[in-house]
Formats: sequence, C-alpha cells, structure tokens
Amino acid sequence: MAESPIYHKHEAVIVGAGGAGLMAAGNLVGRDVAVLSKLYPIRSHTGAAQGGIGAALGNHEEDHWEWHMFDTVKGGDYLVDQDAAEILTREAVETVYELEHWGLPFSRTPEGKIAQRRFGGHTRGEGKGPVRRSCYAADRTGHMILQTLYQQSIKHGMRFFDEYLVVDLLMEGGRTAGVVALSIADGQLHVFHAKAVLFATGGYGRVYQTTSNAHALTGDGMAVVLRAGVPLEDMEFFQFHPTGIYKMGILITEGARGEGGKLLNGRGERFMEKYAPTMLDLAPRDIISRCIAQELREGRGVDGKRYVHLDLRHLGRDVIESKLPDITDFVRTYLGIDPIEELIPVQPTAHYAMGGIPTDVLGRVVVDEKNTVLPGLYAAGECACVSVHGANRLGTNSLVDILVFGRRSGRDMARYVAESEFPALPPQPAEQAEARIARLREGSGGGGREESAAVVREELQQELMEKASVFRTANNLVQALDRVRELQQRYQQVRVQDRSRVFNTDLVEALELGFLLDTAEVTVAGALARQESRGAHFREDFPQRDDQNWLKHTLAYRTAGGGVELKYKPVTITRFQPKERKY
Ligand code: FUM
Repeated sequence: MAESPIYHKHEAVIVGAGGAGLMAAGNLVGRDVAVLSKLYPIRSHTGAAQGGIGAALGNHEEDHWEWHMFDTVKGGDYLVDQDAAEILTREAVETVYELEHWGLPFSRTPEGKIAQRRFGGHTRGEGKGPVRRSCYAADRTGHMILQTLYQQSIKHGMRFFDEYLVVDLLMEGGRTAGVVALSIADGQLHVFHAKAVLFATGGYGRVYQTTSNAHALTGDGMAVVLRAGVPLEDMEFFQFHPTGIYKMGILITEGARGEGGKLLNGRGERFMEKYAPTMLDLAPRDIISRCIAQELREGRGVDGKRYVHLDLRHLGRDVIESKLPDITDFVRTYLGIDPIEELIPVQPTAHYAMGGIPTDVLGRVVVDEKNTVLPGLYAAGECACVSVHGANRLGTNSLVDILVFGRRSGRDMARYVAESEFPALPPQPAEQAEARIARLREGSGGGGREESAAVVREELQQELMEKASVFRTANNLVQALDRVRELQQRYQQVRVQDRSRVFNTDLVEALELGFLLDTAEVTVAGALARQESRGAHFREDFPQRDDQNWLKHTLAYRTAGGGVELKYKPVTITRFQPKERKY
C-alpha cells in the first residue's frame, strides 16, 4: 500500500522558479506563498538565455515601444494578440529599469547607460534596418536575471520546495484547489492545497532530438493542465533557433549575429543576402532556420554535412571575449575551436514553444473560445500562451514575457487570494498520482512486454525531429501522429529499473516522458490540421499564409477517449492589419 501523502496549505502555489515564477512570487510578498521547483531555482532554464532582453530604451539610436510592438506582431506572422503585445512592449521599458535598480549588472555604453545590441527582427520600422534594442549582460543575460530575482526572493523570505516535480493539478467545484507533487529527494508525494496556482514550468524542447533546451524542459505544467481538461493553445508553432552547435544543439546566441557575425554556406557564400536582403543574418529565426535547412537540402552544407558556418572572426578578440564570453567558452570546450580564428559549425536547434496554456493579460488561464477564466489558475512564461509571440517569437522577447506577465500574474493572484476562500480538496487528491507511479514502478500495464523510458523517449525525439520540425507535410505529420500514439501505448508498459525512493531519476524521467508524449500529440495534431504556412509552422504542401481560413488560434483539448479535439479562437488585432512579411 502507498504511503500517505503529506499535506500543505498555502494561499498561493507557484510551480517553477525561473524568471516567471520568481517574478510572480516577488509580487505576492505579504501573502502565504509556496514556490515548488523541479530544480534548485538558480538552475532554471531562464539562466540559459544569453543574448538579451528587448526594450525600446533608445540608448544608442532612436527607438519607440510602438516599433517594438510592430516588430513583435510582424515577427509573429500576425498571429500575435495585439493587446498583449502592446502591454509586453510598453512594460518592457520599466521592467528593464526595475532589474537595473535591483542590481542586475548590465553591460554598459561608454557613457554608462545600459548597453543594447541588434537582434533578429528588431527594426526601426517597416522596411528599415536593425535597431539596437536588446539590453544585455555580455551573453549571460538570463543567468544575471535569475540570480537577481532569486536574491530578491531570498530577501523577502519566500518559502521554496526545491526538487519537487508537479504531477497533478487539483480542481474542485470548477475551481483550482492545488497540486500534487513528488519530492525527488525521498519519493514522497505531497498535496499542496491552495486558493490559486501559477504554472511557470517552461517549455518542452526535449520533445525534439536536437535542442537548445536543458534536460528538464519536458512540458510538465502543460501536460498536467491538459490532463485536467484545460486546452493548450497554438502548440503547432515551435521555434527552431538558427544557430545551435552542430549535432549538440547547444545555443550560440543570436547576439553573435547582433554583434556582426555572418552565416556562410559550404561555398563560403553569405546566403542570407538572397533570402532577406534588408535584414540579412538578423531576419527572424523562422526565416533563417528555413533558409539554412534549404541550403542543406540543396547540397550547400559544409563538406556535404548538415551544417553551415557562423563566422565571427572579423569581430576581433576584444569584442568576442568581452561581449560573447560564454559562447566562446562553449565553442572552445565542446568543439575545440577558437571562434577568434575559426568558423563555428551550426545548425537549427529546437528552441522555444510559442504555444502553451492559454491565458489573458493578467495571467489567468482561459479555457475556451470565449476566454472563460478558470478561477484560481494562472500560467506565465514559456509554458503559457498570452499570445505575444504568435507564430514565431522574436529573440529577446521571452525574457520580457516572463517578467512582464510573471509580474502581472503575481499581482492578480494577490488580489484573487485576498478575495477568495480556500476551496474544498477533492476526496482522494493523490490517488491518480499514486496509481501512475505504482504502474511505473511495478510495470502493471500488461501486454507482456516491458518498455524502457529511454528507448521510447529517443524514438519520440527522432520522430518529431524528422517529421514535425522546420519543414512539414501532411504525409509526415500523419505518420508522426500515428507514431506518437503507438509510443503512448508502449508507454503503458514502461517500467523503471531503479526501485529506490531516494533521488530516483529513473522514475522522474519516466514521468517526464508521459508529459512529453502528451505535448507531442497536441503539437502534431495541431500542425496536421493547420493547412497553411505561418511563422515557424511551414507546410510544404500549403506554402502560403492563409489569413482567410487560418488567422486564428488553435485550442487543443484532450478527449475522454485519449485523442485530441481542436477548436479555434480569433486573433486580437488592434493597430496592425496583417500584410505580407518581408525582410
Ligand atoms: O539567441 C539568444 O540569445 C536567445 C535568446 C532568446 O531566445 O530570446
């Protein structure tokens, strides 16, 4: 018999201690809050963000939040909700100054202002060239943000539960009632009874074979809410960053191109000249990743291999070592290459989920086409979809997103918990989690065959990489969907080898695989249904954007039978009417 769960009661529970979770927590000071994190907080993936946070400070040349908003909407191929993009870009400016006041060590201009650099898709307006908008701390901006926010949390005496993996969302009477989590240190289940819960659990890039995402990015929050009946929005839009280290996927910041780095094909040609004559290597990521994939397909990779080169040599030692020290170190360490003298082999790498848990601009989770709010449930950061990134996110906008909407979520949660009573808990809150864990431990799925989580995960990653990445077709997506469903069946036979309770990472990875499979299914189902090309979703069989039929957000629900039901809701357009996207 399973050991009884341990019960906790807090007004608010925040799941995830990256930038969004910590920013929300900082706005709940004075309330009774618990922050649950799968990792030690400063290992969260916000720390991997390199090149900067976008804000129209205009520290080098004229800039305006309206230009930032326009670039965000155009970069997102007009699937962006423009009310949310306006908030993002207006509030970006005060957010950066707030970070500065909290002590974040930004790089500086000679006059002592926050230094800014160019980034893909950030311009001085339609058809004009790039603007320096990305506020940076060398190439460790996310790391500095995370440290700064964590210091603030410690100062405010936040209550952290480190190394707790969320496994279920609790609902009662149509309201959020808490979560169930597994303490990784000792295998104990915990029930967190709460008035409000925020998911800030990050993305699910580990669903792809080549990714910039850390091992922990497995879609936990997304899958947990999907299983509880909440839809996921626009999951077919998954961004590939153009410059991952060849074969490893490790990120080489776009800031390298912002500083003047160039992409060269196997013939040494600066191929972006023919695809994006104005923005060149600083076109948005969806476009550059597709161009690289096209060069590779047409045999213009380096030495017939599946990579192109990133050339930084002309930047010189001073710029490379002072402005790009981390990536210089990565390239030296992982490739034995010195970017001061040598070319860096790069290929597109799965980087960012534009889709996620649908929310309004206060971070409240909405569950249908009418944007009906689910009381007490919030989401922010990569696991959420406000939607400020539409079909393709601009670089630097994820750090703005986590902070702006993390703060807004925290503020609205503070209001909500002050106004509401604790809901009842469901009768056996940990029952489902106990059953799931028992099945993984005891392998009681039947079928006469025992599966390994590692094997199923690898097959899933390969399938999505081959059939649902930069280029997609109906044929490939049908095959991928069948395969994901077959793997979901095989997952029922997964049995963990490690029988212990203490730091059982075998069990954690098996639970994470369940999350990856569920997020993969809605990703592929949404991609198969969307018969157009927009942003990061490129259908070779429908190569044009089709605003007539597809200028709408996808809502993917899990059905009782285990399939996916797709519904759609309109895009909010305020200032900028959709037009052709040219760079
Ligand atoms: O290229 C980068 O530094 C990544 C930044 C981002 O994803 O916003």
